[in-house]
Amino acid sequence: MFRPSRPVWSVLGVLLAAGCSGSSSVGGPDAGAQLLPYYGQVQVLFQQNCQSCHVTGGFAPFALETLADARSHAVAIADAVRSRRMPPWKPAEGCQAMEASRRLSDADVATIVAWATGGTPEGDSSKAVSFSPPDGGLPWVDLTLAPDQPYAPKAALSDDYHCFLLDPGLTQNQYLVGVDVQPEQRPLVHHVLLFATTALDAIAADTADPDPGWTCFGGPGTSGTPRLLGGWVPGTQATRFPADTGILLRAGEVVVMQVHYNLAAGPSAPDTTRVKMQLARGPVAKPAAILPLANLGFSIPAGATGYTSTIQVASPASGVLWGVIPHMHTKGRRVTVKAGNTCLVDIPAWDFHWQQAYFFTTPLPLTVGTQLSLSCTWDNPTASAVTWGEKTTDEMCLNYVYATQN
Ligand code: HEC
Repeated sequence: MFRPSRPVWSVLGVLLAAGCSGSSSVGGPDAGAQLLPYYGQVQVLFQQNCQSCHVTGGFAPFALETLADARSHAVAIADAVRSRRMPPWKPAEGCQAMEASRRLSDADVATIVAWATGGTPEGDSSKAVSFSPPDGGLPWVDLTLAPDQPYAPKAALSDDYHCFLLDPGLTQNQYLVGVDVQPEQRPLVHHVLLFATTALDAIAADTADPDPGWTCFGGPGTSGTPRLLGGWVPGTQATRFPADTGILLRAGEVVVMQVHYNLAAGPSAPDTTRVKMQLARGPVAKPAAILPLANLGFSIPAGATGYTSTIQVASPASGVLWGVIPHMHTKGRRVTVKAGNTCLVDIPAWDFHWQQAYFFTTPLPLTVGTQLSLSCTWDNPTASAVTWGEKTTDEMCLNYVYATQN
């Protein structure tokens, strides 16, 4: 899959390190939190923090749109919010502040828990507010790409990873500044990743598989050096790259869209996932690249628990770091990325199903020679050592950085 472009971030070596000692603080709710009513207080918290997913026909297993919805799930809500399983947000506090964080404040956790465990008081229903989640669309759309025909994920697979070839038909180089991925069967789509690659590589992968598109895991499964363009996970609105930055799309390149269908939520149904692309009106001031920092050399011993492998790479150039996209497969437990002593991201409870790009609230300057470190921890319950590879049963230890030169 992600074949790192080694000339840029060469992998200097692998050094095994003991488990990382970062802290993952779970902010407990204030025991003395005031009991506030649903209307006028708690309803708004559910609207703003839950309804991007918990709506009728949405990705989450139940709607949280009405007082009755919230009451019938009150026990589970208190538990999920107190333990911070919900809203799903994987990066630990105390590392970088991220844009669009879904993490609830301790005060909001306390309010929800107090309400859900304190008799779910209704309050004054005249204070009910109507709400529709922000559409989060792009300011303009230049290209809408979709596969030629719908694809019904294979019912025999609970997880079907499928790649589609999309041709933007670019006759000149352009900068991508925004992406809006729109799955049709939202409950079935767990994530989408977009890659740019050469048409020949993608056509070869497509024709080798009899279905529309082809089966692929983790990455596009093409040869060559596909470049990550972005992606989508449930709850994501359109992704707009940071102001004045954008990613070059070369004339003649195609886009490979990998869709991860998960059939736990419902029966298979034909899906057409669309990709809307916003292109810059001219060259962007800060061309960006999504560059891999990859640890290719690990070997997780059979039966290991909490096995950690860390690489350090001296940054080959100066620039600015805007964000990170960590990636492991299903045996991953923790991933931490640092630049020198600065923590870029720490995901203490890795969950394969919740992967995304994280953009920093404040971009970070990077000087040449700064040690970039990537540390991955896994459990390997199998009877064989596990190494880098593209299959479900293989593993990865990878982080992309979204970086510009200035
Ligand atoms: C980004 C999407 C998303 C958001 C936002 C979200 N949820 Fe969920 N929620 C899910 C999904 C998906 C599941 C199913 C379990 C899973 O995949 O983790 C779930 C499951 C749950 C469950 C049952 C399972 C459990 O972990 O207890 C509860 C309760 C819940 N959510 C409450 C909430 C509340 C309350 C909020 C807002 C404060 C919220 N969720 C926000 C996607 C979301």
